[in-house]
Amino acid sequence: MNQPPNQAPGLNVPSFVKHPKLVAWVQSIARLTEPAEVVWCDGSAEEYDRLCSQLVAAGTMQRLNPAKRPDSFLARSDPDDVARVEDRTFICSERQEDAGPTNNWMAPARMRAILQTGQADGTPALFQGCMRGRTMYVVPFSMGPLGSHIAQLGVELTDSAYVAVSMRTMTRMGKAALEVLGEDGHFVPCVHSVGAPLEAGQADVRWPCNPTKYIVHYPETQEIWSYGSGYGGNALLGKKCLALRIASHMGRSGGWLAEHMLILGVTSPAGRKYHVAAAFPSACGKTNFSMLVPPRSHAGWSVTTVGEDIAWIKPGRGGRLHAINPEAGYFGVAPGTNEHTNPNCMAMLARDVIFTNVALTDDGDVWWEGMTDTPPAHLIDWQGRDWTPQIAKETGVKAAHPNSRFTVSSIHNPVLDAEWDNPEGVPIDAFMFGGRRSTTVPLVTEARDWTEGVYMAATMGSETTAAIAGKVGVVRRDPFAMIAFAGYNMADYFQHWLDIGAQLAAAGVPQPKIYCVNWFRKGADGKFIWPGFSDNMRVLEWIVGRLEGRAGAAENAFGFSPRYEDLRWDGLDFSREQFQSVIGIDRPAWAQELVLHQELFTKLSLGLPTELPATKARIEQRLAA
Ligand code: GTP
Ligand code: SPV
Ligand code: MN
Repeated sequence: MNQPPNQAPGLNVPSFVKHPKLVAWVQSIARLTEPAEVVWCDGSAEEYDRLCSQLVAAGTMQRLNPAKRPDSFLARSDPDDVARVEDRTFICSERQEDAGPTNNWMAPARMRAILQTGQADGTPALFQGCMRGRTMYVVPFSMGPLGSHIAQLGVELTDSAYVAVSMRTMTRMGKAALEVLGEDGHFVPCVHSVGAPLEAGQADVRWPCNPTKYIVHYPETQEIWSYGSGYGGNALLGKKCLALRIASHMGRSGGWLAEHMLILGVTSPAGRKYHVAAAFPSACGKTNFSMLVPPRSHAGWSVTTVGEDIAWIKPGRGGRLHAINPEAGYFGVAPGTNEHTNPNCMAMLARDVIFTNVALTDDGDVWWEGMTDTPPAHLIDWQGRDWTPQIAKETGVKAAHPNSRFTVSSIHNPVLDAEWDNPEGVPIDAFMFGGRRSTTVPLVTEARDWTEGVYMAATMGSETTAAIAGKVGVVRRDPFAMIAFAGYNMADYFQHWLDIGAQLAAAGVPQPKIYCVNWFRKGADGKFIWPGFSDNMRVLEWIVGRLEGRAGAAENAFGFSPRYEDLRWDGLDFSREQFQSVIGIDRPAWAQELVLHQELFTKLSLGLPTELPATKARIEQRLAA
């Protein structure tokens, strides 16, 4: 370099930045996007407060009543920017088959023309000048404990202050991450723009964004480019983009797993502690399960949270699989959360929270559907309009958006696991996979072996939720809850899981047991039959009993499930008939279900491990018997 990094013109490089390549990259992106200024985030509380005040002044956020919800804010997004956009999410590997048939793909050169360099017909690149009139924030972050051998560093360049403050809560962000990066450390470059440049004198809007959206990953070169959205997983690029799509690609060659999983510790009354990692699709119960409060009947049991959305899992000491949570905060679903379903979460949300798209009460606090049985008489809804229970009755308008969320630091979780920040992670005893299915899938099934467990996870279906832009309530296959997050070919991903299991077996290390669960079966009245939430402890207790070789079960076509007498029912009025309606296997429904498994396998036929159709054939034989 002919210029020391901290003297590059117009970049305001602070003295704590010591990485010439980082500075050069920031400069190249600044040249492309032409921001009015560049601000390097240090991650301090002062900086957070300053940016929040700016967001309030800009109208993006408002401060909540400090007497009710200290140091907390409400942000309202554009009504067209409220969820992840899967149809605009791309895996741009050199070869299409490496992205596989479940990912949107485009050749890297073509995508770079659209985003960075401009197209042959003269259409300018989307990122060209896209930050005009705005500030570009340089946001250095670590996914995983600072300096851990499992952690990965990233730097996000963003023109959204909302993203910058959210990244401080969600990751280890700022100076400390730069210290780990040093002078020549490796980082994943992430470029984010809301895609709304401001011309001189042009007034800003509350939530700038662009109807054209691109969420783009180049797995081979480990780059992320996101355009047009300021919301959640579209914009907080450490989360789904880095920690799942890019990390799953890294893990494939590195012999580890990046998964859409919560990680919890469960301690029995005898004081024995186990760790469970559980994959449920978006808005299907990970956050809630990870911080579950055992029912009164289960005094003596405790559940503690290591992570609530993402797990990085590697063989650790003794060869066992160990998991870390790469995140430092929670971006959780608000609706449905209340003092009964999740008192730990309600306590966690008492202060220092950014709420997005929930409703505002007349006394400056927040409300969402399901928070209280009786809604307040008047609210301002998530779009800033008057809302009353009567309006809701007449129009069906929700006070809070169904994908409204809270952003909060994990340190406020009252049941945060003591090991949550341990750079070595925690040893995993069991995996759980669970979709949202109103029919067909039983409450809980234990796979007979690793391959059957992989089959269950691979063929999992789930009803779509408001976490994804598009239709809600449609059953789709969501293998491993990773349909939107595997950064490579899903068939190869299945093989990777089989390989990890085979490696454990070859090393003589016990494989974690694998369970399939479904909290969401509905009765003829359209209501959930299983009480869920705290009562999911009853299933977890059975799983621990199975790990300890104590709990009974009956074998069926898929594996082992508890009989009525194998679960403990004290404190819950749940009859044998009700239990039958959540655990029963309906043969005609399963015949239909297996057709859907076959459709998935046909789609993924290139590279599909032969163990999976072979397992399917065995299940079909057992079902027919
Ligand atoms: P993402 O953050 O999108 O990945 O979601 P998540 O998997 O963490 O889901 P979360 O725990 O936030 O729950 C999503 C919705 O499902 C909320 O409305 C919860 O109230 C509801 N929910 C969670 N657990 C249960 C359960 O056991 N039973 C029922 N009926 N609903 C549940
Ligand atoms: C999910 O959709 O699985 C989420 C929310 O956890 S987001 O961060 O928007 O991806
Ligand atoms: Mn999630």
